[in-house]
Amino acid sequence: MTTETSEIRKGLNGVVADVSAISKVNPETNSLLYRGYPVPQLAATQPLEAVAHLLWTGELPDEQELAAATRHERSHRGARPTGEGGAGFAARHLPSDGFGAHRRLRARRPRPHRRGLLPEAELEKARRLFAQLPAVIAYEQRRRRAGGPTEPIAAREDLDYSQNFLWMTFGEEAAPEVVDAFRISMVLYAEHSFNASTFTARVITSTLSDLHSAVAGAIGALKGSLHGGANEAVMHTFDELGIRTEETEAEAKDRAKAWMEDALAQKKKVMGFGHRVYKHGDSRVPTMEQAMDAMIAHFDRREILGLYNGLEQAMDEAKGIKPNLDYPAGPTYHLMGFDTEMFTPLFIAARITGWTAHVMEQRANNALIRPLAQYDGPDERQVPGA
Ligand code: COA
Repeated sequence: MTTETSEIRKGLNGVVADVSAISKVNPETNSLLYRGYPVPQLAATQPLEAVAHLLWTGELPDEQELAAATRHERSHRGARPTGEGGAGFAARHLPSDGFGAHRRLRARRPRPHRRGLLPEAELEKARRLFAQLPAVIAYEQRRRRAGGPTEPIAAREDLDYSQNFLWMTFGEEAAPEVVDAFRISMVLYAEHSFNASTFTARVITSTLSDLHSAVAGAIGALKGSLHGGANEAVMHTFDELGIRTEETEAEAKDRAKAWMEDALAQKKKVMGFGHRVYKHGDSRVPTMEQAMDAMIAHFDRREILGLYNGLEQAMDEAKGIKPNLDYPAGPTYHLMGFDTEMFTPLFIAARITGWTAHVMEQRANNALIRPLAQYDGPDERQVPGA
């Protein structure tokens, strides 16, 4: 092995690691396709259930397939009160952090065995995780609000995925504008090629490990603030600035610009800006900004828009760095009423679709993912006394 002379691409920057038919990111045109379809078009027209079907199977569902997918999703939502059987689980007994909750879903499944790696079995696991996660996240948000264990709100089979997610979280039917903004955020978060968490899922799958382990690993990667954790970090910036409801949009903007200029003078990295692949702007931001604008109008919170525009403008003027999807997603989820700590779990609920599509794709044409390292430690030396 000639590792001494190989070119090292730190962070695998620019390395093409495999082929994939799931999504195409084009940084030149700032565009993103899921299975060939432009994501803004999917966000404008499709329920998340249809986008999940597309990512898993390669095609948008026809009427019958969508009806079947919807039925399956609605009948596997879980979060029934303790003691009941079926597809439910005892949400009250979940671990106290949103990330630990996923381990319990895994613990309920049988130990992985060869049969569980068959494509139909993998798809079924993916569909169930997709259906079950909202109950876990909704319950966690309710427990945070209640300050301890509380009654979960049972899923409603008359509501679609997004409506039901918000129902189980807040215990009331959300306004159509809120449901739509939420659905759009989920479609945008569903998939993004070989990002760090998806690649983690593929690495784990490549060892012939099981789907739930791949998802657990992906969650660990997503949690970091350079990746999915950025949507929470964005809100911490807003909190540090202080959201002042009495402030005008212009006042908020001036304050935010000054904050950003100061942060950049101190060489701070401000989360929600920049992207490894997109260098001229994240393709998903314009669509997510429309959803955020709808929430700002719906809740009449123009001071948030002032902060948002102030930070963005000052970053652009100083460094030319554009926002990524997490930047508009943070304030949008805040306006909807989610606690900041729930933002990355929301990302997980959506990305479970993309991760599991990649697990199945990796499985179908597997090669163990195992790169090399160029050694730069001490030269060979003797162990004292040897
Ligand atoms: N704030 C301030 N400066 C930033 C920045 C940010 N959010 N993102 C990039 N930069 C600067 C870096 O400091 C670096 O400047 P330098 O060349 O003067 O040192 C330059 O831009 C290149 O950044 P780098 O971190 O090397 O690029 P990358 O491709 O490795 O990083 C990210 C991509 C996403 C990790 C990076 O932009 C980042 O950390 N962003 C914040 C986290 C975030 O929002 N993540 C969600 C991604 S969807």
